[in-house]
Amino acid sequence: MGKLKLGVLASGRGSNFAAILRAIEEGRLTAEAKVLVSNREEAGALEVARQHHIPAYWLSSKDYDSPEAYDVAIAQLFDREEVNFVILAGYLRYITPEFINKYRNRILNIHPALLPSFGGKGMYGIRVHEAVLEYGCRVSGVTVHIVDEKYDAGPIVLQRCVPVLDDDTPESLAHRVLEHEHQIYAEAIQLFAEDRIRLEGRRVRIVPGSADY
Ligand code: GRF
Repeated sequence: MGKLKLGVLASGRGSNFAAILRAIEEGRLTAEAKVLVSNREEAGALEVARQHHIPAYWLSSKDYDSPEAYDVAIAQLFDREEVNFVILAGYLRYITPEFINKYRNRILNIHPALLPSFGGKGMYGIRVHEAVLEYGCRVSGVTVHIVDEKYDAGPIVLQRCVPVLDDDTPESLAHRVLEHEHQIYAEAIQLFAEDRIRLEGRRVRIVPGSADY
């Protein structure tokens, strides 16, 4: 595949996107961020992109007749920038099977809990951490997974545990989990950049990199 050329989709503040850009700048991630697309005009991620001089687009769903047409528009922007790898960084929108198929096994998502717990429809943002605390979990964490047609259910690339503290609020837990998100997402993408990911069914095997020999 050559160098990873990232197309990023985001709906919110864009702190994961910013962390990925930082990792690229610091040489921890050998990839190029080519373009950012958001479905929300007020997304902070658009500003993050502009600050880094990365092409940034807001596509309003009102301008498209169907989710398929919307995703075709994204794919056209991605093609123009020669995107070969897609990063969902807090993207809160249904993705069509056609889009998933175009980038099969080359779309990643990050989820602020240990999947398959506390994932699926409606499980996003602070709700995830509320649910973790309500259940009484002692451990939460972060999951980076490949995106397939099922919500939050694709093969898991990396996970990291984050302990739940007795006096945690959803906000304090979210804050600690986010710090780990900012580390682990770039690490996961780097594994793809180094061609170290092998898919066996829904299991992901990480093969040693050249530096490990
Ligand atoms: C993160 O918690 C991420 O796990 C989830 O959406 C949130 C996005 O935050 N998918 P940000 O926009 O990257 O700051």
